[in-house]
Amino acid sequence: MRGRTVRASAPGKLIVLGEHSVVFGKPALALAIDRRFGCEISPGSGVLLNGVGVSLRLHPHIDSILRRREISDIRIITDSEIPSGSGLGSSAALSAALISAVRLMMREECREEAVALEAFETEYEVQGRASPIDTSTSVHGGGVAVNCPESIGTPIWNISKGGNSWTVSDIPVPKMTFVVGYTGIKAATGPLVQKVRKYKESNRFASDIIDEIGDVTLSGMSAISRNDKQNLGELMTRDHKLLSILGVSCKELNKLVDASLEHSYGAKLTGSGGGGSMIALTDEPEKVCRAIALRGGEPFIVRTGVPGISAEFAEL
Ligand code: MEV
Repeated sequence: MRGRTVRASAPGKLIVLGEHSVVFGKPALALAIDRRFGCEISPGSGVLLNGVGVSLRLHPHIDSILRRREISDIRIITDSEIPSGSGLGSSAALSAALISAVRLMMREECREEAVALEAFETEYEVQGRASPIDTSTSVHGGGVAVNCPESIGTPIWNISKGGNSWTVSDIPVPKMTFVVGYTGIKAATGPLVQKVRKYKESNRFASDIIDEIGDVTLSGMSAISRNDKQNLGELMTRDHKLLSILGVSCKELNKLVDASLEHSYGAKLTGSGGGGSMIALTDEPEKVCRAIALRGGEPFIVRTGVPGISAEFAEL
C-alpha cells in the first residue's frame, strides 16, 4: 500500500423490476438512491476495520478485494447509511466504494467500467452466482438497465459469466417518488439466489415464471421511458406476484406491499427478498409511509438520480 488517505463512497440501489430473473440473463431496471456507503482507507499494520482487528472470514467482500492484491496492512473506516441485508445494495455499495478507494491508492485503473467489472467479480465470488445489476448501479449511479432495447438506454459496458451475458446501459431517470418499507429482517442474497436456481433446474414452471418476469421488465422499461407511472406501477405489482410464486417473498413483505397499494401506483419487494425491503411508487409518500409504519415496517422516502462512485485523496 502506498501512503496517504483515500475517501470513497457509492450509492445503494433499488431494483424497480427484474431481480432474480436477471441472474439468468433476463432484463432488469434499477435506480441509485440517496443512501450511501462511505469508506476511508490508509496504510496500517495488519487489517484494522473501524479500529478493530477482525477476522476477514466475517467480511467476505473486503476479504476478496484485499486478497486479490495481497494487501495485509490497511486501516479501513466505514460509514454506511444502507442497512446490511435490506435489499438496498449494501454489499454492492461496499464493494464499489472499497474497490474505488484501493484502486486510487494503488494507482490502478479507476474508470467506472474497471470498478464495475471487479465489483461484479467480487459479488459473484461471495454470492456463488450474481448478475451485474447491483454493482453496476452502485458504480454508475442514476438509472441502469440491463439487456434493454437500444431505444431505451445507452450501453456502457458488457459483462459475461457462467453462460450468461449482460449489456449494462445508462437510462435517463424521470422524477419519481419511491417509498421504501424495510421489514427489519436481514436476508442474505446468496441463499435466495441458490433457491431460485434449484427451483428453475427442477421445474419447468419456474423457468416460465422467470421468462414472464423478463417480459414484465421489458414492458416496465418502456413505461419508465414514457414516464407512465400508472403502467409502471401495475407492472411492479405483477412482478411482486411472480416473485412470490418463485418463493422469494415472505409474509412481512406481502403485508407491507398490500398496505401500500391503496395510495400507490404499484408496489413490490426489491432486491433478493426473503425479508429486506419493498418499494412503492407513489404521489402520496406520507400516506404510504404511515400505512407501512402501521404494519410494523420502517418507511423512508428515497431520492433517485444520484451520482455513482466517488474517490479522492483526503486533505488531512
Ligand atoms: C439482489 O439485489 C438482486 C438479485 O437479482 C441477485 C443478483 O442480481 O445478483 C436477487
